[in-house]
Amino acid sequence: YHAIAFEKDMAGKKVLVTAGPTRESIDPVRFISNHSSGKMGYAIAKVCAARGAEVTLVTGPTEIAKPLFAKVIPVTTAKEMFDVVKEEAVQADIVCKAAAVADYRPAHVAEEKVKKSGEEMTLQMEKTDDILKYLGEHKRPGQFLCGFSMETENMVSNSRKKLEKKNLDMVAANNLKDAGAGFKGDTNLVTLITRDEEIQLPLLSKEETANRILDKVLQQLNK
Ligand code: CTP
Ligand code: CA
Repeated sequence: YHAIAFEKDMAGKKVLVTAGPTRESIDPVRFISNHSSGKMGYAIAKVCAARGAEVTLVTGPTEIAKPLFAKVIPVTTAKEMFDVVKEEAVQADIVCKAAAVADYRPAHVAEEKVKKSGEEMTLQMEKTDDILKYLGEHKRPGQFLCGFSMETENMVSNSRKKLEKKNLDMVAANNLKDAGAGFKGDTNLVTLITRDEEIQLPLLSKEETANRILDKVLQQLNK
């Protein structure tokens, strides 16, 4: 990896990145999850390390090989991610929360495999902790919080609401319906939303998108 080509403009910065989906068990053989590949979060982690930052990557289950350039902490559930992130965020100068965290989990995890019975079945769900909201409520002076927002409609206004509600410094938003954007591919089409700006990035590789996101983070931090 051509890390040498990067200016070490993040030297001395501690960055906490979360990536990938969470999995919430229903019973010993089933879980609820989402289509997150982890690619955007891993790209952020890689680019931060290449630019000289000290990186901690808290990751849900993904297909991506464990990177060597970061301290990697694998987690499975939203609760596990919450517990790890709470601890790790205390030292972080920058937090990039690219993980696709489950909003709800099954209220009860069955100890044995659930057998099929009637024509319909209902699963009772309970809310998970909003990790990013917690971080916003406990933000240290000078700490920078970047959220990621996935929408299928009203992308900018919905993402701006998240910025306000969670006390974030920036949201990297994408519309799942745009070609080249979203979970699976190697490209992304992101709009950066800050308190006073909206910047539409072009369609870029996830790595180049990560670089643009971090350019904006550093610019905001240095102002
Ligand atoms: N997030 C989190 N903890 C949760 C849910 C979301 O930390 N329990 C974070 C995600 O990592 C992401 C940001 O919040 O950085 C926005 O996630 P998103 O799912 O787009 O928004 P939500 O606030 O969960 O709202 P909704 O799913 O209803 O759009
Ligand atoms: Ca959500």
